[in-house]
Parts: sequence; C-alpha cells; structure tokens
Amino acid sequence: MITFDHVYKRFNGNVVFNDLVFDVPDGITTVLLGPSGTGKSVFLKMIIGLISPDYGYVWIDDRNIVNLKTKYLYRIREQFGFVFQLSALFDSMSIYENIALPLKMHTQFNEESIYSKVNECLSLVDLEDAGHLYPEELSGGMKKRAAIARALVRDPKYILYDEPTTGLDPRTAAKIENLIIKVQQERKVTSVVVTHDLTSARRVGQYVALLTGGRIAIEGSPEELDESANQELRRFLNEIPQNESLL
Ligand SMILES: Nc1ncnc2c1ncn2[C@@H]1O[C@H](COP(=O)(O)OP(=O)(O)O)[C@@H](O)[C@H]1O
Ligand SMILES: [Mg+2]
Repeated sequence: MITFDHVYKRFNGNVVFNDLVFDVPDGITTVLLGPSGTGKSVFLKMIIGLISPDYGYVWIDDRNIVNLKTKYLYRIREQFGFVFQLSALFDSMSIYENIALPLKMHTQFNEESIYSKVNECLSLVDLEDAGHLYPEELSGGMKKRAAIARALVRDPKYILYDEPTTGLDPRTAAKIENLIIKVQQERKVTSVVVTHDLTSARRVGQYVALLTGGRIAIEGSPEELDESANQELRRFLNEIPQNESLL
C-alpha cells in the first residue's frame, strides 16, 4: 500500500502539500483529481522518491521512503511503472527498443525472454504490429499505448499515470481509459491515475480523491462522491460559484 502520512511540501513559499494524509488502496484504480497546479505530478513523483517531503512520511508497503538510501530506493522503484504525461519515448529507438530498454538496463533476461516479454506487452496494448515503428510515426494515442507497454514490461506491482488522457481527442481518450481498466484487471496492478479531467476520473476510478488546497478535500467511491455535498468538490465541478455556499 502507498500511504501519505502527514506530508508537507512547499517550493519557495508556494505551499503544495499541507498535512496531506492519504492511503492508496491496493489492487484497484485510484484517481487523484484536482485542478492544474495543485500538486498532482508532485504527488506521483513523491511516490517514487523523485521529490521529497519537507515533513512527513511516504510509506510504500510499510517502508518509509523519505530519505531512503539510493540503493534501497531503486529497489522500491522496481515495483513501479510510470506513464509520463508526454509519453517520454526515445525518438531514436523503435517502439520495440523503447519497451525492451528497461529490461536491458535493469535485468539479466536474455534476448529470447526479452523478446517474449516485449511482445506480450505490445499485444496487451494492441500494438503487436508496431514494434518496428519509431515514435514519430505514431499517433498520440499509439504513443501513449507504447508508454503503457513500457511501464508494464517489468511486471510492476504499481502503475502510475500522469494525465493519461490530456491532449487526446475524446475517442482516443476513451480507448486509453479502457486500456487502463484492462491493464488493472489483467495484470492485477494497483493503478494511480492523476488527472484534472472529471470524465476520465469517472470512467477509470474505482476510488476517487480530490486534491485541493494542499490536502484531500474528499475521497470515496465515484457513487459516494456523486452523492456528496462537499463544497470543494461541488466547486471543482463548477456547480457553485467560488464564494457561494451550498447551504
Ligand atoms: N521541482 C519544482 N520546483 C519548484 N516548483 C515546483 C516543482 N515541481 C512542482 N512545482 C510547483 O508545485 C505546484 C504543483 O505542481 P504540479 O504537481 O506539477 O501540479 P499539477 O500536476 O497538479 O498540475 C506548482 O505550483 C508547480 O509550479
Ligand atoms: Mg501535472
């Protein structure tokens, strides 16, 4: 389980987390929803130790990763797949090579096992015929699928998606949402999706939390949130103006 335990973070006086407390449930897809600039990307980077809290702890399976030695941090990171907002594929490598890279860099697998693992992931994301292509030859949606395949190739326990549907047209976004659901079901991963897109949150989230003002304003199943009169949530949904009360 991933736990944010009273986390504080500020950048030059800009408070991003102010006593953030949150447990990411295991084995389902959790969506962290929030307007842009609220700290969603920082949240993901903190989970893999790329950004440290000023105070507080981040627990990954009962281990606090704050100030962990690099050697141990790398071991924790092995359990994570990360899908970056801009897909972050290497342009000079084919899709096959991009996906094989984490295995070549971090494992002792031979060519044959690498070949079979890469192809398994390509087929999971419906890119079985695209391994020889280069990123510039792919559409935005295909790049995103390739990035998901790369995140999965080491069989992670957790997969983190940063704004996976931002910048995609609605049809392509829907395909990526379906893929996120399929990956969670077939690989039994714990998925964390951060997004400002409510439609996406609703489609993929089995558990949803709203990040605003440096902490979680409300969390629960999508149904629970639908029923909630929480003011920050309603405000985020633009149902009430900034300074008007619901009551
Ligand atoms: N490395 C950093 N250095 C300074 N400020 C940062 C850094 N990373 C993020 N921030 C600031 O933290 C806030 C939250 O950023 P971010 O997590 O990227 O927002 P979101 O992903 O929700 O749009 C922003 O104000 C951003 O400018
Ligand atoms: Mg972001």
